[in-house]
Amino acid sequence: MSIIESLRINQVRNIAQLELECHPQFTLIHGENGSGKTSILEAIHLLANGRSFRTSATESLINNDANEAVVFAQLAGGHRVGISRSRNDKKQLRLDESVQSNWDDVARLLPVLVLDASAFLLLEGGPRARRQFMDWGVFHVEPTFLTAWRRFRKSLASRNHLLKQPRPAFDQIQVWDKELIIAAELVDQYRDQYLAALLPVFRSVYSDIAGERAMDLSITYYRGWDAEKSLAEVFVQSRDMDCKYRATQFGPQRADVTIKTGKHKALEVLSRGQQKLLVSALKIAQGQLLADSNGRHSVYLVDDLPAELDRENRESVLATLAGLKSQLFVTCVDKDSFNSGQQKATEMASFHVERGKINT
Ligand SMILES: Nc1ncnc2c1ncn2[C@@H]1O[C@H](COP(=O)(O)OP(=O)(O)O)[C@@H](O)[C@H]1O
Ligand SMILES: [Mg+2]
Repeated sequence: MSIIESLRINQVRNIAQLELECHPQFTLIHGENGSGKTSILEAIHLLANGRSFRTSATESLINNDANEAVVFAQLAGGHRVGISRSRNDKKQLRLDESVQSNWDDVARLLPVLVLDASAFLLLEGGPRARRQFMDWGVFHVEPTFLTAWRRFRKSLASRNHLLKQPRPAFDQIQVWDKELIIAAELVDQYRDQYLAALLPVFRSVYSDIAGERAMDLSITYYRGWDAEKSLAEVFVQSRDMDCKYRATQFGPQRADVTIKTGKHKALEVLSRGQQKLLVSALKIAQGQLLADSNGRHSVYLVDDLPAELDRENRESVLATLAGLKSQLFVTCVDKDSFNSGQQKATEMASFHVERGKINT
């Protein structure tokens, strides 16, 4: 079970210092626009993953008047995690007594899933977001995925470097291809297996939350190259294209997931509201599959849900999330308009944020 018991945030955006005793299930953070609600969620994400979910410019998280942002969490079960990130890109991540050289162990200990406006772009945006979605899942359920993925990225970078030379030497490139193909096939197998396992969970979650509004959906995985051919064959055939674009045109770096209803892409026929339900179901299914496969419950960061879902959809999404027994951090502007009546006061903690401080 991944549960944040308490949180201390220093110099993250407009938050100078803030301490939060979190509820094991439901922590509601409410306040006006610009008060610092999303910043609290960003701080949790920074701690768990080393970056924000809102921007790739991590430095923008550091308070304008400070040189260093610090986030510390006490987890249920005794673990303590702390991150400091300074302006010169210096960071230090600690898990209990030990300094960590990367986020592998912390990310595994604290799986975090985000439902916010950008998550709802999963259908609309480019394939990168869908690859990240898959890889989040594979990373958490398949311990050896990360090694294969790193091998793949390293050999792909070397291959692309050679392709950028004035006259690419294919005898050298072929040397890299062996390693690249082995790693690429592993990455592909892991992703394929993950999606196959996710699909039935997704179907059940989706029909739970959408009820009668559920659409008939199909989800297909594209591995990044022709399903009928080996990657070795594809590399031989795409040599001219690889040279022309000076980069490898096929492989797991081009993988994608297509969600369709009938013949059409979901994006083209579903309403905004239906798309958001679908994305919520995908994220909930990810958390559920992880809990089912290794007992680890994800922490959900749900930003501005009332702005994203109407009341009926919101209630069914929250009820399903609550059923996961995961820890939820939910933000909204107006506490009263949010309170659906489902959440009993004793089963939640509620904080009012004002200008970067908890107003008690
Ligand atoms: N690096 C920073 N230093 C100081 N203030 C910042 C920084 N980045 C953003 N802000 C301010 O922090 C405030 C909090 O933003 P945010 O957490 O998005 O608010 P909310 O989610 O409550 O609407 C905003 O008013 C924003 O202008
Ligand atoms: Mg916000």
